[in-house]
Amino acid sequence: MEKRQELYAGKAKSVFATDDPDRVILQFRDDTSAFDGERMESLDRKGMVNNRFNAFIMETLAEAGVPTHFEKRLSDTESLVKRLEMIPVECVVRNLAAGGLVKRLGVAEGQELNPPTFELFLKNDALHDPMINESLAETFGWATPEQLAEMKALTFKVNAVLKQLFADGGLLLVDYKLEFGLFQGRIVLGDEFSPDGCRLWDAKSREKLDKDRFRQGLGGVIEAYEEVGRRIGIDFG
Ligand code: C5P
Repeated sequence: MEKRQELYAGKAKSVFATDDPDRVILQFRDDTSAFDGERMESLDRKGMVNNRFNAFIMETLAEAGVPTHFEKRLSDTESLVKRLEMIPVECVVRNLAAGGLVKRLGVAEGQELNPPTFELFLKNDALHDPMINESLAETFGWATPEQLAEMKALTFKVNAVLKQLFADGGLLLVDYKLEFGLFQGRIVLGDEFSPDGCRLWDAKSREKLDKDRFRQGLGGVIEAYEEVGRRIGIDFG
């Protein structure tokens, strides 16, 4: 597999072409951003930790029958994935109230959400990823009703698998964001799953062990990611 030109540089990952038109390389950088890129910092080991974390989660999900773009980890900070045509919609499931939901609705942080909620956001930094709904997605052509139904079903399937995985490590999966794309016409889970895109709390103390440590200036960001990883059986070498 030959690594070719950079196709795209996101806030924390870069995407490179390969000699296979259907495969790209994701490079996990040490960069961390919050508040739509307003705050940027480089955190030592982050690229390696998130690359390994994502590989472990994607493999776990694939074993459980969730189609993903992940193919294999190539190095400490690089993974080979299928090249998807991304759907510009973010799917968020919440098991406990936190973050945007608390801000928007004034509910208590930590309140259990039964049943878990499902929200859609438009992937658009300039507009700060506004909340949308299925009607808007269909009208503006961001996703078809069939695609949205499939994305919703897969997002909840991920919840069933990962809630249990993290619970076994003494952790609460508070919420998370997923992105999907199309590969040969099929909906496939893309992007990444790491503590950058979800909330994870210690089940007993409710200590935050995810990117909120960075957003809230709590420190120990990567140490927390590694702690979570170790608890679910990831070897960071
Ligand atoms: O900010 P909010 O509470 O809506 O985020 C819900 C979940 O989705 C959090 O776990 C957050 O880290 C994740 N998220 C993300 N990228 C975004 C928006 C939310 O990873 N652009």
